[in-house]
Amino acid sequence: MTSPLPSDHYPFTSVNISPSNPPALKRVSWKSPSNIALVKYWGKKPVQIPTNASISFTLDHAHTITSVQPTIRKGGAPFITFSFEGSKAPAFAHRIERFFTSLFPIMPWIENYNWEIESENSFPHSSGIASSASSMSALALCLCDLESQFADRKLTHEDFYKKASYVARLGSGSAARSVFPKLASWGSHKQIVDSTNLYATPHMGVAKVFSTFHDDIIIVSKEKKSVSSSAGHRLMETNPFASTRYQQANEHLSSLLLCMKEGDLSSFGKIVEDEALTLHALMMCSNPSYILLEPNTLEIIKRIRLFREKTGLHVYFTLDAGPNVHILYPDYQKEEISAFIQEDLLSFAEDGLIIKDQIGAGPQKLL
Ligand code: DP6
Repeated sequence: MTSPLPSDHYPFTSVNISPSNPPALKRVSWKSPSNIALVKYWGKKPVQIPTNASISFTLDHAHTITSVQPTIRKGGAPFITFSFEGSKAPAFAHRIERFFTSLFPIMPWIENYNWEIESENSFPHSSGIASSASSMSALALCLCDLESQFADRKLTHEDFYKKASYVARLGSGSAARSVFPKLASWGSHKQIVDSTNLYATPHMGVAKVFSTFHDDIIIVSKEKKSVSSSAGHRLMETNPFASTRYQQANEHLSSLLLCMKEGDLSSFGKIVEDEALTLHALMMCSNPSYILLEPNTLEIIKRIRLFREKTGLHVYFTLDAGPNVHILYPDYQKEEISAFIQEDLLSFAEDGLIIKDQIGAGPQKLL
């Protein structure tokens, strides 16, 4: 099968092996986190090129652990066995197959092996939390790590992660950002030096308070969402507000960087909430239109706004492409805000499920 990926887009040197004598490769395992976008990636062009730049907090507790063992293929087509938390998961194996095929032009050695992949998530399987960012970044890190077992030239630390981000992007756009600690942006943006659509870059230079942020995720519904992110991205191609949205996202990112640098929490919160509501407004005015928000999502948003008005505390919401509410707040106000979540919001979580997370240090290689 040929892949649509033009290899001249690949900013790294392709490494290959002798197909008649592929080296034995050692099993690798990586733990990689999920992330929550502050300025959202919504809309893409082939191949996995974002229509606007985005930025996210890398999370700490919500992660995927993936282990990969390639074995030299003696004949026949390469096959992949994928098990998730101990059970075979053929649907995801197909996605990985498509992902691997898309990598042949840049990692041609993949074809010489059969693949045994095992994966597990730290968050409950049925929590409605999307896992493509953590799972695809963990897999991309495993592939780059395997490649380093036979590459003649060792990559620098920086290039290793850039390459992992590039590979992760091809699996799932948002996964490109998960390979970096704390805060990462992805997509060309005039105010971000070295920004590119091809991979994400870590973002420094923000006020200290942002390294202390919590993200408590209220699981409003554990159900699998009715419209996938991929389908949502596609609908942006015909969305009447698409070009205005792409411009708005880039402007939001400029403003967000400025207020994060200055430690302006109120302006940060205003932009982040605008982004969340815009994402869902775009879904509502897609053709066909769809709604992923639930009544409890709106009730939680209303209560957060009221509580903020009453107390002046820095508590803000954001949303993924789903009904669950991410509550962002700085550590120094943890006591009052945790109490508010417990007393006022817990009853809107399905089965009382709240995932308490915070900004994290990025992926980790496991021995
Ligand atoms: C709403 O990265 O899941 O979470 O590239 O098709 O895999 P694919 O989409 P995905 O889209 C994420 C959309 C989002 C916003 C974001 O994370 O920036």
